[in-house]
Amino acid sequence: MKDYKIAVIEGDGIGREVVPEGIRVLEAAGRGFDISFSWQHFDWGCDRFLKTGHMMPADGLEQLRRFDAIYLGAIGSPRVPDHVSLWGLLIPIRRAFQQYVNLRPCKLLPGVATPLKNFPPGNIDFCIVRENNEGEYSEAGGRMFRNTSAEVVIQETVFTRMGCDRVMRFAFELAMKRNKHLTSATKSNGLVYTMPFWDERFAAIKKQYPEVKTDQYHIDILTAHFVRHPDWFDVVVASNLFGDILSDLGAGVVGSMGLAPSGNLNPEREFPSMFEPVHGSAPDIAGKCIANPIAQIGSGAMMIRHLGHADAADGIEKAITAILSSSEIRTPDLGGHARTSDLGDAIASQVAALASDKAQVRITAQNR
Ligand code: NAI
Ligand code: MG
Repeated sequence: MKDYKIAVIEGDGIGREVVPEGIRVLEAAGRGFDISFSWQHFDWGCDRFLKTGHMMPADGLEQLRRFDAIYLGAIGSPRVPDHVSLWGLLIPIRRAFQQYVNLRPCKLLPGVATPLKNFPPGNIDFCIVRENNEGEYSEAGGRMFRNTSAEVVIQETVFTRMGCDRVMRFAFELAMKRNKHLTSATKSNGLVYTMPFWDERFAAIKKQYPEVKTDQYHIDILTAHFVRHPDWFDVVVASNLFGDILSDLGAGVVGSMGLAPSGNLNPEREFPSMFEPVHGSAPDIAGKCIANPIAQIGSGAMMIRHLGHADAADGIEKAITAILSSSEIRTPDLGGHARTSDLGDAIASQVAALASDKAQVRITAQNR
């Protein structure tokens, strides 16, 4: 039996409520599919910052380096400025471990109402590939003449050829495995240096993938198309900021922030990848135990898929679909009254049932 060492950072707010459900479901999948996990918990986050002045210890990245993967909840508290919490933990991990792909699937599941009319389940199923290491989220810039009427702030965007090419290549490869259609999010009419460069690199990489149908839209109209024609998309590649915005829109389109999983991937596997929901720490509902754990559970499925266990990942995804389509157990964001742990428990039991059905089929086949 393969044993995986997983670093767990529950983080802040609802991260602490949904991560235990994700672990519960992964444990059930592990029992059913012969995988074991050694979880090591790190109490890093805003509480630690308020006590020590640091989101994680100075050797935090070194500590994480030796794990097979990182399973993260969410970071952020109203008591700590968001740029401090994000740049103190999440962004250093994404960058140090070259997690340059942020993969964010958006799928309308059965039993979930989309706010859009006329889109049945199965009709919306696309993936956002967000550049995760550079772009608009850069440390280049500064602030001068603070607190005077002459105050100036500058925030630079950084696009590199290597950074654009590698994320685009990943997106093309993903499109090859799916429906061979890739859309690029641009804004080369307004951003006159970075985005024309992004378009140039897209055109260059595209030559290596003649089978993939491509298109590109300026980000403004692309947001409208996400709402009016979400069925047009298969894989969408976007810069850091655009991908960030599109992924919350994607989650909204498929019914709830509580449903959208994500993976911060280091495709070369030189470093651990990190799996976390698209959503944040949701301070408005934190502590009420009503957060939807499905995004966290789905991120767990992405994690074991990345570790090489497609059967277990399929099992978790099937269990999520089965519970949403055939039971009334749903959290308030989906119109129900269930608590976080009710939904986690139902999905874990369903994973166990699916795994034992599979085992039964195996035994019957062997005895035949
Ligand atoms: P958010 O994603 O935390 O919440 C947005 C809205 O969606 C809220 O109304 C919330 O209740 C709802 N929501 C989110 N997750 C849900 C779930 N699982 N079930 C049910 N409802 C859910 O985004 P917001 O409010 O912009 O940010 C809150 C904090 O989280 C901030 O400190 C922000 O910096 C941080 N943040 C952290 C992220 C991360 O750790 N990766 C990502 C996004 C935000
Ligand atoms: Mg975001």
